[in-house]
Amino acid sequence: FSLKNYNTFGISATAKSFISVTSEDELKTVLQQQQDIFILGGGSNMLLTRDIEKTVVHVNLKGIAVTKETEDYVWVTAQAGENWHEFVLWCLERNFGGLENLSLIPGNVGTTPIQNIGAYGVEIKDTMVSCEAIAIKTQEKRVFTNAECAFEYRESIFKKELKNQYIITAVTFQLTKKKHQLKTSYGAIEAELQQKNISNPTIQEVSRAVIAIRQSKLPDPKELGNSGSFFKNPIIPRTTYEKALQNFPEMPHYKVSEELVKVPAGWLIEQAGFKGKRFGDAGIHKNQALVLVNYGNATGAEIEAVSKDIQKTVLEKFGVAIEAEVNII
Ligand code: EPU
Repeated sequence: FSLKNYNTFGISATAKSFISVTSEDELKTVLQQQQDIFILGGGSNMLLTRDIEKTVVHVNLKGIAVTKETEDYVWVTAQAGENWHEFVLWCLERNFGGLENLSLIPGNVGTTPIQNIGAYGVEIKDTMVSCEAIAIKTQEKRVFTNAECAFEYRESIFKKELKNQYIITAVTFQLTKKKHQLKTSYGAIEAELQQKNISNPTIQEVSRAVIAIRQSKLPDPKELGNSGSFFKNPIIPRTTYEKALQNFPEMPHYKVSEELVKVPAGWLIEQAGFKGKRFGDAGIHKNQALVLVNYGNATGAEIEAVSKDIQKTVLEKFGVAIEAEVNII
């Protein structure tokens, strides 16, 4: 079974077999029957470097519902197989606020808690109340509160202690019905709104600004295979940063704490000379050096090799190690 249409990198890997599940009961039955499985959501955060000699279980549960409401807030539960951006649009159509900065992020709802997706100053941990998950071994259902997910920058318990142990089936968000908390201080959003002469934006206008920024920088996976940011922005000791600054006084950074700073990996990769480069069908995007792309027939191994080359060069040049954000399989 070809997985080419099930991963946004567009890698031609195959699976031993493939089952798409559309209900929780179906999922539980599959888990009871199959020993060796591989869970697939939206396929937007993985790089397949080999064929999957397992049964691929495609989590395709659908549905969005308001589960609770007060005068000011609404709780919305989306099933794991809903497309993330379509879910964001569903909320915006009803004027539910909180997810607008996360417009146009590829992937499905069920995978968003795994890496605490984020963009333009917002992460899902800011509005996520809880998620439901099924234990792969026992098929028992468990609800994880926001705190139990142990969210950090592109991290959660599902990537650490509980890696490969649970399948997320639904996610609940607490959104605003009025008095929306806009987060527009991120430079690019401010500039985009200013350019359109919008001084008092609605959540829909913020969403449209985010969409415009993303479309200008990030390649559409339908046109050019990619998985968004391939690397995380490294968080390094301030002392390491200050040492690098002696040779690279322009190096940007954001304060994380007194001891730690975050450096944009896109800047490091661009300065290392990789932006826009192409090696066969694998390459580095011309508008955003953090994004690796598949020009058509690159294999996962070829893209991984490029990523290793980037990591090595960046480490040698800046003394900073950058880590993949994408799941390499
Ligand atoms: N930069 C460069 N060259 C580049 C790219 C970036 O110099 O080619 C520098 C610029 O100085 C820029 C800074 O890096 O000011 C930050 O760039 P940008 O605002 O594009 O964001 P990013 O740090 O590269 C992160 C997320 C994105 C998210 C954007 C916007 C990570 C790993 N990536 O990228 O998330 O959309 O911020 O908030 O944190 C994703 O996770 O897949 C993703 C696309």
